Amino acid sequence: MLTLRKANDHDCLRVYLWRNRAEDRKWHFDQQPIRLYEHAQWWEDYTGTHYIAQHDGEFCGYVAIEPGELGLEVDITVDVDHRGKGLGVDMLHSALAAHGKGVYIAYIKTDNAASRNAFIKAGFDEPTVTTRNGQDCYVCRRVTT
Ligand SMILES: CC(C)(COP(=O)(O)OP(=O)(O)OC[C@H]1O[C@@H](n2cnc3c(N)ncnc32)[C@H](O)[C@@H]1OP(=O)(O)O)[C@@H](O)C(=O)NCCC(=O)NCCS
Repeated sequence: MLTLRKANDHDCLRVYLWRNRAEDRKWHFDQQPIRLYEHAQWWEDYTGTHYIAQHDGEFCGYVAIEPGELGLEVDITVDVDHRGKGLGVDMLHSALAAHGKGVYIAYIKTDNAASRNAFIKAGFDEPTVTTRNGQDCYVCRRVTT
């Protein structure tokens, strides 16, 4: 069973390890390795909400939702050992339901097929191509009412 809760300070390191995983940094717009002290500062200053997911009690990833220019920007990472089981889609559904009504936006690198598929299956519109930080990407949107 999937459960989701808001993050607390004990989750800072957990999210750091997911976000800083070498093989996954390429999916982010800032791909540089992150130092722990930088992450801790970023965590303190973060203006959004992290939702921590557990599957059958095991930590399996996070969804981050933060106000941005076009709406609430959504980021997700599923722990590598839990991918490909539909958890990403379930986590997106649960996080948006927990967060409430709004316009949700995701920026996805054009070669990130897993993410593109997960967001579409979670009810986001067909992506359109844009650029972010000078990098080609998709942007897709879901409005919840
Ligand atoms: C993107 C990510 C969150 C997807 O989570 P997941 O739990 O593995 O995805 P799901 O199992 O829910 O699969 C969602 C859909 O994507 C498809 N999919 C999964 N992995 C895929 C892959 N490597 N290539 C293409 N499609 C893939 C699934 O088949 C599924 O569609 P289907 O049901 O029609 O088959 C996960 O791969 C991840 O954490 N990646 C690294 C971080 C990242 O890229 N974050 C997104 C930044 S925008």
